[in-house]
Formats: sequence, structure tokens, C-alpha cells
Amino acid sequence: MSRKHWESQASNWAAWARTPDFDAYWKYAPAFFELVPPPRGRTLEVGCGEGRVSRDLANRGHNVVAVDTSTELIGLARNADHKSAYLRCDAAALPFDTESFDLAVFYNSLMDIDDMERAVVEAARVLRVGGTLCACVTHPTADAGRFESHLPNARFVIDGSYLGPRRWFEGKMEREGLRMHFAGWAYSLEGYFGALERAGFGIQAVREPAIDEGSVVLHPSEERWRRIPNFLMWKAVKA
Ligand SMILES: C[S@@+](CC[C@H](N)C(=O)[O-])C[C@H]1O[C@@H](n2cnc3c(N)ncnc32)[C@H](O)[C@@H]1O
Repeated sequence: MSRKHWESQASNWAAWARTPDFDAYWKYAPAFFELVPPPRGRTLEVGCGEGRVSRDLANRGHNVVAVDTSTELIGLARNADHKSAYLRCDAAALPFDTESFDLAVFYNSLMDIDDMERAVVEAARVLRVGGTLCACVTHPTADAGRFESHLPNARFVIDGSYLGPRRWFEGKMEREGLRMHFAGWAYSLEGYFGALERAGFGIQAVREPAIDEGSVVLHPSEERWRRIPNFLMWKAVKA
């Protein structure tokens, strides 16, 4: 479901993700990279899209292998970076040896992977004991509700329920001539942390960063994300 959706959105996503200071990535990446351990052995990025996170990891000295299910996005990522290896495969069936990586990175991909639980188990399998899984996901609170307007003091409401089975969510965005149709799965905190616990990970750090107004200019509608977390990040270690 999500795989097909992302393939259909590949060109839109590449344009969206590659426009500097446009997507939320540019405002949240500094908080994420504070969690990422220094380069050691091999680093795997799962759900790399057009490759911006892998390029940022490679620029920090990581020896990166990156995977994604989208043929178009893997092609774009490969063309933009000759230092790293890019491979088309499913996160739920990684074609790598057991205990062959030191770090696994999921940047805004876990909620887009249809079998999230299996992807976490696969990450645990390919990581060495003591290896790290760093992830960023849309915050479960942000996924469960919505702001009533674009104003900085807009009320945030949860109409349905936060608890219960995972839900499919969709949102269409249009800005400055670029269009993106986002879609994926909404999980609770326990949905993510339960999957990590069952796969044998221990949590080392959790972050709910406010939007980083320090590095870039905020769009007026982004002010709201100083009050409610838009993203959840963590560092987990394979026991
Ligand atoms: C929001 S994009 C994030 C891309 C990249 N991590 C970034 O932040 O720029 C989510 C990516 O997950 C990929 N994806 C979805 N399902 C997947 C699966 N089962 N296995 C691997 N990648 C998957 C999509 O093709 C898409 O490129």
C-alpha cells in the first residue's frame, strides 16, 4: 500500500526534498544528527528516498549503504552520490548478512513501511550487538490530531482516538508550485517502542525537538510546531 504510493510520488518527493530550506528536514536534521553516533564500521539507511540523509551521513564520514523500494528514488540517490551504495529492496527483507552493520538509520521512513514491525526485526538482525538504531518519525501526537488553523496559537485537536490499531493517514501539500501527497501509517508511542522492545532494543535517548528557528527562516504556519512536537526521534541500542 505505502510502497506503491511512494513510487507514484517519487518525482514529487524528489523535487520537494531537494528544494533547500523547504521541507521540515532542514529544520529538524540538526537535532537528529546530535543523536547519531560517530562513524564506525558500516551504516545502513532504510527508506533513503532520493538520498539526502545518506549524503549527509556520508559527508560526516559514514560508510553508507542505503535501501528503498522505489526504483526511481534509488536511481536518483545513486546519481547524486558516488561514495555510497544504493540498493532497491524492502525493509522487511534486507539482503544483508546478520550482524554486518554498526548503525541503522530510519529517517521518516518507519511510518511509511507497510510491515514496520518486521523492518525493526530486520534492523536488529543486521546490526551487531551494541549497534545503534537512530530514527525520526512523525510524532504520534501529531499523527493523531490536527491544528484548527495555520495561526501560531491554533488549537490542536484529536477528533478520533490516539489508541487502537494503526491508522492510514494522507495529507496533500502545495507550496510555491511544488505538490506533495504524503501518506503512511499512524502509530502510537507504544506501537513504535513495543516493536523495538520485542526486537531486543534498549532505548538510550528520546527527543521531541521544537522546530529549529535558529538555522532557517520559519514559514508563518510553522510557528505552531514550537508548541506541539511534529517529530519524535530516538537512539536505541541492540542488547
Ligand atoms: C518520507 S520518505 C523519506 C526518505 C528519506 N529518508 C528522507 O528523509 O529524505 C519515505 C521513504 O520510505 C520508502 N519506503 C516505503 N516503504 C518501504 C519499504 N517497505 N522498504 C524500504 N523503503 C520503503 C519510500 O519509498 C520513501 O522513499
